[in-house]
Amino acid sequence: MCGIVGATAERNVVKILVEGLHRLEYRGYDSAGLALVDGDSAGITAYKRLGKVANLENALKENPHDSHVGIAHTRWATHGKPSETNAHPHLSADSIALVHNGIIENHAELRDMLVAEGYEFVSETDTEVIVHLVHKYFQQQQELFKAVKSAIAQLDGAFALAVLCKDEPNHIVVARSGSPLVIGVGIDENFIASDQLALRQVTDRFIFLEEGDMADVSCDQLNIFDVHGELVEREVVQLDDYADASDKGQFRHYMMKEIFEQPKVVAETLRGRLGKHQVMEEIFGADASSLFDRVKRVQIVACGTSYHTGVITRYWLESIAKVPCNVEIASEFRYRDVVVEPDTIFITISQSGETADTLAALRKAKDIGYTASLTICNAPASSLVRESDLVLMTQAGPEIGVASTKAFTTQLVSLLLFTLVIGRRNGLTPAREQEIVSQLNELSDLCAKTLELADRIKEVSNHFTETTSCLFLGRGMQYPVAMEGALKLKEISYIHAEAYPAGELKHGPLALVDSETPIVAVAPNNDLLEKLKSNLEEVRARGGRLYVFADVNSGFSESDGVTVINVPHVSDVLEPLIYTIPLQLLSYYVAVLRGTDVDQPRNLAKSVTVE
Ligand code: F6R
Repeated sequence: MCGIVGATAERNVVKILVEGLHRLEYRGYDSAGLALVDGDSAGITAYKRLGKVANLENALKENPHDSHVGIAHTRWATHGKPSETNAHPHLSADSIALVHNGIIENHAELRDMLVAEGYEFVSETDTEVIVHLVHKYFQQQQELFKAVKSAIAQLDGAFALAVLCKDEPNHIVVARSGSPLVIGVGIDENFIASDQLALRQVTDRFIFLEEGDMADVSCDQLNIFDVHGELVEREVVQLDDYADASDKGQFRHYMMKEIFEQPKVVAETLRGRLGKHQVMEEIFGADASSLFDRVKRVQIVACGTSYHTGVITRYWLESIAKVPCNVEIASEFRYRDVVVEPDTIFITISQSGETADTLAALRKAKDIGYTASLTICNAPASSLVRESDLVLMTQAGPEIGVASTKAFTTQLVSLLLFTLVIGRRNGLTPAREQEIVSQLNELSDLCAKTLELADRIKEVSNHFTETTSCLFLGRGMQYPVAMEGALKLKEISYIHAEAYPAGELKHGPLALVDSETPIVAVAPNNDLLEKLKSNLEEVRARGGRLYVFADVNSGFSESDGVTVINVPHVSDVLEPLIYTIPLQLLSYYVAVLRGTDVDQPRNLAKSVTVE
């Protein structure tokens, strides 16, 4: 989604803002802009450019500027098309400038009211109503902080915003409700951002604002007020060194770097969590044991790739832990009538921890009586983490590529740990748990071995460059693996791709099979292999081109129209983790050949903080 960064310092802040925007670009990137206070009330100067932050940076090189207070924004269009006029910051009467993340639901009625009062709108955005509202109240109250407070009291929806005022040139006023906002604490300088990653070059100390907080930020003062308007102290958190997260190293794209980090981050996610023979259940928190004793059912809710993690987890929970599990897409769950069965734990899965639909689903779940909530998340200070009863952090490190890769595998690892902890309450024997734990101990090496397939997959990817449509097939746990493979291919290569359970082919999709449509099959050597082989025969009989990711021992051989990629042997339980990796590589290489923007695919954003 959109990104916000702001700075107030004794030095020139322009470079800091631009660097921050570059670091936020992965969130949303149809346009970028910044507003700078010209000092001593001379005025506010704003620059906006369509497209990448580099365009804005070039504009600033042509018009060098010196300023000690500024706010900046990368936009991902929600209201109004991508254009310079719709880009942030928005200004009112050239005296107030504002950047905003989120969506204002009552913007139409506020716009009508402000137009009736004489305000002229230049953009199609919902944001412009906020800046005019602030201006209106500033005229009445002559104090920026009070004006922002009065303005946000009128807003329905979600927002994180930062505001500058020509007549109060030394500070920034910020507010958060429903969208994340963080303050970076420096020495005689302070910063704000929607994601701490934007500020890692200037500080490692952060204050994560809470719901309803407002703050008044200048270079030597920081005042935070809670939802009731009370001055509050918020903890300053020192973050570990994330230095390499925004560096691609030897790789051309973040996505490839992140695919290749999987052996490391899988090991990180297991580190300190496995005893000799079993999972240490304290990792879920002090209250976890007694809560888990009550769990009879599981409800999982997530979006996109994280939803696919949930679908795989259902197979584990029902086969290993013998616990019924339901999995649902968050945007559906949040708006339907739900019957809550007793003793059900509610699980959210999210890389960012800020996905608006998943967060809304959690809030609904808390209202309707689930036994407890657990989140599997990769962002330590995120809203999902703060609002859930129990948390298990994935240790993927920041994921910059929009297409989720290492976050997915670490989510799977985390939920397998949960499965074992619940399973041992339901007849999972210590011997079986120990067996799975020793497989987990081998997982990092197995991921590394699977990555050795990269060159072979690069060769195969040449067959997909002219493809317009592609089917992914799997059975059992490989069906959600196929879903994830199809999502990866479509989001970064823009090839239409769909996943089906292989047994479902004859009920419709078989009609799509011809020699033009590649069919990707996921074929580990398990109980369903013979069934899958029969389904693939149906495809071959109709002239379909098959690409089979098969266990070395599964007996597939290459022939005309059948390409086989041999995947290292893996135990049944860990199949989804290993078979996902070659599919990630396939989508990556196909996208590179097709020349798409791999790390920032069109129309997508990393952190989806709007509905
Ligand atoms: C796809 C992808 C998305 C996210 C989805 C949920 O590669 O990354 O489908 O998985 O937007 O995001 P999180 O996990 O942050 O809740």
